[in-house]
Amino acid sequence: MTDGPLVPLQAGQDLVHPLMEDLNRFLMVYKFGLAEVSTKITILAEELTLRGRDNPIEHVTTRLKTVTSIAAKARRVGCELTFDDLRVTIRDIAGVRIVCSFVSDVYTVADMLTRQPDIKLLMTKDYIAKPKANGYRSLHLIVEIPVFMSDRVVTVPVEVQLRTVAMDFWATLEHKIYYKHDSEVPASLRAELVEAATDAARLDQRMERLHQEIHGPR
Ligand code: GTP
Ligand code: MG
Repeated sequence: MTDGPLVPLQAGQDLVHPLMEDLNRFLMVYKFGLAEVSTKITILAEELTLRGRDNPIEHVTTRLKTVTSIAAKARRVGCELTFDDLRVTIRDIAGVRIVCSFVSDVYTVADMLTRQPDIKLLMTKDYIAKPKANGYRSLHLIVEIPVFMSDRVVTVPVEVQLRTVAMDFWATLEHKIYYKHDSEVPASLRAELVEAATDAARLDQRMERLHQEIHGPR
């Protein structure tokens, strides 16, 4: 018996296969980085609950950027399609979104995470202190986390987005409105979206105040 592919190759497949292998190896570390950060958040949430403290984390989602979306962003930011360039330039291939109960929780959780000695904070964008013009609010961090492989340690950038339930509600629906809208969104609608974001921020303030009145400061 001769060594060969288990499945007979189609024309051109012998070129595609090694490329797919490289791509999978490239993406693999981001998947592991995501798992590491995810575990850290699970530990924080469970430990706080076990200590009888209010769990500040409502829910967590993770996502790996698709190859199509990586390529689209590379084109947009003028990044060469080489693994080395992508690694340096695109730092949101691994993404974690942490939805917290109150605004103060967003900062508490961000602090608990970035104070951990194996995490390096590379960048902070505070869209809560300084919301985007369209009303978008969230705290964005780019952190770097070591991933221990069989023969080496790689540090992986992970984008962490922290926001309240109200901010998440707004961002999710705003995204949907824009996504479904084929043409330019009219100015009146954009103004209403900014207003809705302000309403959500007001609701956040009110809920935090009510919580404090009942339970005292967080
Ligand atoms: P990206 O290339 O999209 O990653 O943008 P960026 O590098 O300028 O980073 P930024 O921190 O501004 O935004 C990153 C991510 O935050 C986006 O991919 C969205 O998930 C989220 N985001 C930023 N702005 C908005 C917004 O106006 N609306 C919604 N719904 N989400 C947003
Ligand atoms: Mg992004």
